[in-house]
Amino acid sequence: MIEEAIAWARLDCMPAAQRLGLRREAAALAVRHRRLRMQWADHIAQTRAALLASARRSAAAPDTPRRAWIMGAGLLQDVPLRELLDLFETIDLVDVCFGPAARVAAREHAGRVRCRPHDVSGVLEDLSRDPQRAAPPMPADAWCASVNLLSQLSLLPCAALLDRGEAEAVVERYGAAIQQAHIDALGRVPHACLIVEYAQTRTDAPNDVLLPGLPDCLIRDGWTAGPRWQWALNPAGETDEPSGRAMQAWWRGGDTGR
Ligand SMILES: C[S@@+](CC[C@H](N)C(=O)[O-])C[C@H]1O[C@@H](n2cnc3c(N)ncnc32)[C@H](O)[C@@H]1O
Repeated sequence: MIEEAIAWARLDCMPAAQRLGLRREAAALAVRHRRLRMQWADHIAQTRAALLASARRSAAAPDTPRRAWIMGAGLLQDVPLRELLDLFETIDLVDVCFGPAARVAAREHAGRVRCRPHDVSGVLEDLSRDPQRAAPPMPADAWCASVNLLSQLSLLPCAALLDRGEAEAVVERYGAAIQQAHIDALGRVPHACLIVEYAQTRTDAPNDVLLPGLPDCLIRDGWTAGPRWQWALNPAGETDEPSGRAMQAWWRGGDTGR
């Protein structure tokens, strides 16, 4: 609890995001990153490797982007910043909440790395907005990466609507629309990387697919399937019912994407 309070105090958060509880979530995540660093090390390494593989493909393309726009990067836990700085002139770390590591990186690489407070869903200020219309466009001249963010995008907006008494089915459709709008916006830029949790895994039960139909849609829209890995999200000792996530990276642009 005290650790989370300290982590909370160190975060800069957009007011609309804070009202919905995203600052609390980010503080809890920062503490879990520290506590579970051994168990999560492989997931972090895999995420970094997938980002780098996608960025290198794009950097080798004839229309190579000179900037990077990395969404969900406010804690800077899973972004290989130094390596990406060799590939891009400027890097925008995009999030609603920023921790000390991101702020230090922006100071150390002033003019090349920026913290960009930005709601990529466009609904946090006003949950009544239609997610498809609200989602802001992404910069078409950048390599755009969405880093373990998709499942988080709809979580707290949906929780707030349920608290207000909205029907579950309506909220479920709303959450799916937020996610779809994010994927659509990412699909409109030529160079992109999407890292998602596609299933919940348990040792004693079949995988619970979180994003049914997504792989088919991405392939149809010209995305290339990247590596898959397992994330021991809630390892034994952390909870009574250990569970994990099956992860997958996708990319577009570079030598095999459209
Ligand atoms: C689960 S974390 C992603 C993992 C993260 N890359 C890390 O370092 O652990 C989700 C991130 O997305 C951010 N986020 C959630 N909703 C957002 C939104 N609407 N716009 C921008 N960032 C958002 C959160 O603040 C958080 O930093």
